[in-house]
Amino acid sequence: MTPSSWIAVLDFGSQYTQLIARRVRELKVYSEILRHDTPASELARRAPRGVILSGGPASVLDPGAPTCDPKLFELDLPVLGICYGEQLMAQMLGGTVCRGTSREYGHATVRRTQASPLWTDLPEEFSVWMSHGDYVGQVPPGFEVIAQTSSCPTAAMACERRRWYGLQFHPEVVHTPLGTTILRNFVLGICGAAPDWEMADFARRTVDELRQRIGHEQVVCALSGGVDSSVVAALIHRAIGPRLHCIFVDNGLLRRGERQEVERTFRDAMGVDLHVVHAAQRFLEALRGIEDPEQKRKIIGRLFIEVFSEEARRLGPVRYLAQGTLYPDVIESRSPIGGPSATIKSHHNVGGLPPDLKFELIEPVRELFKDEVRALGRELGLPDSIIERQPFPGPGLAVRILGEVTAERVALLQEADLRVQEEIRKWPEYRRIWQSFAVLLPIRTVGVMGDSRTYEHVVALRIVESLDGMTADWVRVPYDILAAISNRIINEVRGINRVVYDISSKPPATIEWE
Ligand code: XMP
Repeated sequence: MTPSSWIAVLDFGSQYTQLIARRVRELKVYSEILRHDTPASELARRAPRGVILSGGPASVLDPGAPTCDPKLFELDLPVLGICYGEQLMAQMLGGTVCRGTSREYGHATVRRTQASPLWTDLPEEFSVWMSHGDYVGQVPPGFEVIAQTSSCPTAAMACERRRWYGLQFHPEVVHTPLGTTILRNFVLGICGAAPDWEMADFARRTVDELRQRIGHEQVVCALSGGVDSSVVAALIHRAIGPRLHCIFVDNGLLRRGERQEVERTFRDAMGVDLHVVHAAQRFLEALRGIEDPEQKRKIIGRLFIEVFSEEARRLGPVRYLAQGTLYPDVIESRSPIGGPSATIKSHHNVGGLPPDLKFELIEPVRELFKDEVRALGRELGLPDSIIERQPFPGPGLAVRILGEVTAERVALLQEADLRVQEEIRKWPEYRRIWQSFAVLLPIRTVGVMGDSRTYEHVVALRIVESLDGMTADWVRVPYDILAAISNRIINEVRGINRVVYDISSKPPATIEWE
């Protein structure tokens, strides 16, 4: 059940594809991401108000580069091509594309050269986030250049008669401050989409779809206690009630008290059929002697699937597996179109299911960003304690213990982490924080306690702000708060004698240390 007024985003593998869809949803217009090669007949059937072609890592000049159905341009639909999408339009519609000598990104000032409905409410010059890869040399017949930069003579092109537009820069990223205005001009103005979509619609639509898809089958859900899988569980519980079975794997790498909280919330308060598997020993044994971050992630991911499937098999025949996969998890693990995109970290909740596993996957929030999932959780009436919960990585404390993971080191980090949580929550601006946690470093330093020399562990504090986990900045937490955290850890946690604060942003660092 697609809303009557929606925008299709064709995905050519850009890291920003979801951001485009999200920006459109922020305009209160439903948008959905489709494969780049979605047949035009399918688009015609589903009748979007307009189509956006995303950017992508490939070059249209390379053989086998992803393309779209040429019949798309026979549909009389407005089309906006962004970066790769623009170059593809140029190539398919009879223009030329030149190969860039280097692929660099940066701010640029765009100057309008032609009036266009795309430029409504925009000044003559504005700042954009430019991608200097390939560029359009000659615009196709019927097109005009509508903006330039000092280094790119075809920063934007338009064929107003057909309502086709192309941008060399990225309007969807925050580094293009007026990008939302451009997208609004396209979506609400040029496409004439009605701004009447809300999260409640998403909830209703998703519950309906789930009910239809699941029928009388059973569903098993990997519940982690985090907001993503909780929202998924709540959605599916609303759709099919007791035929949902949640499995919570206690891998021994959780924060203190986490399992108990999950039991209270889901089993006691919501009445969900919850199965808790106590598997700490198994995980720690498998991790013995392992120091490499990727190896840790792979071991934990594999074991998680193993433990989880054992428990699921105990439930009897179950057709579906529901997961709280979010968009940032998807892009950082693999390209959604299976194209070339670097693996940054192996997120264990995406892919990797053994071939014998007969489950069909249900990932009802895989198109959403974290803050959208929170809004959805509120819509579903989940308590604040869950909705406000900070993200916690699937591999848990293992990626916050640098070097080997042992029971002692897990216990040490849990104690330190508990103090971080207790103290940081006292900060009135706590809600600004995306994640706040401690990382146990694989080094020891000298200290002095009373009259004695100590030689103990170091903990790093990581406190970051972020909108979606894809970029992040360290929070300028008041010194008093940092002092309180440090004092409590050093005074109360035996084995730690030094606390440092991580002041790296993402990129180039990542949020987790491993
Ligand atoms: P990084 O460290 O890549 O993390 O900047 C981005 C966000 O993702 C979380 N994270 C994970 N989440 N499974 C998850 O579900 C994972 O394997 C995983 N690794 C990192 C991290 O906590 C941050 O919010």
